[in-house]
Amino acid sequence: MTESTHDKTSQQGNVSAASGKTYRITFLPEGRTIEVSPPDPLAHHEGEPGSILDNADHNNIHIDHACGGFAACSTCHVIVKEGLESCNEISDDEDDMLDEAPGLTLKSRLACQCIPDGSTDLVVEIPAWNRNYVSEEH
Ligand code: FES
Repeated sequence: MTESTHDKTSQQGNVSAASGKTYRITFLPEGRTIEVSPPDPLAHHEGEPGSILDNADHNNIHIDHACGGFAACSTCHVIVKEGLESCNEISDDEDDMLDEAPGLTLKSRLACQCIPDGSTDLVVEIPAWNRNYVSEEH
């Protein structure tokens, strides 16, 4: 992907910006929409607290995340089709790992690192190679 000049400290600010705000994430292609509240600091988190992966996991939407959410693989690659502007900046580590992801697009992110600030709703596509992992709670 492109080179990133953003430092990692810029990622942290978006979490607090989400405080008190509820927004929605719709996951494609299933079209399932979840309501998202600010992350509970005491809860278990997959990836960064408040990340797309974290919110998906808490709603039984499974996105493969082989490294456990530490920006050390590219299995959690998703495409943020709408609402990308409300998400934190890409870190150098995320940028490096995205370079390994198949089907990379300009709206690609690692779900474990991408933290929306809650200012708008998101539409997130789970790529085809990861769709077998999608399930809903019954
Ligand atoms: Fe490995 Fe997100 S789970 S980079």
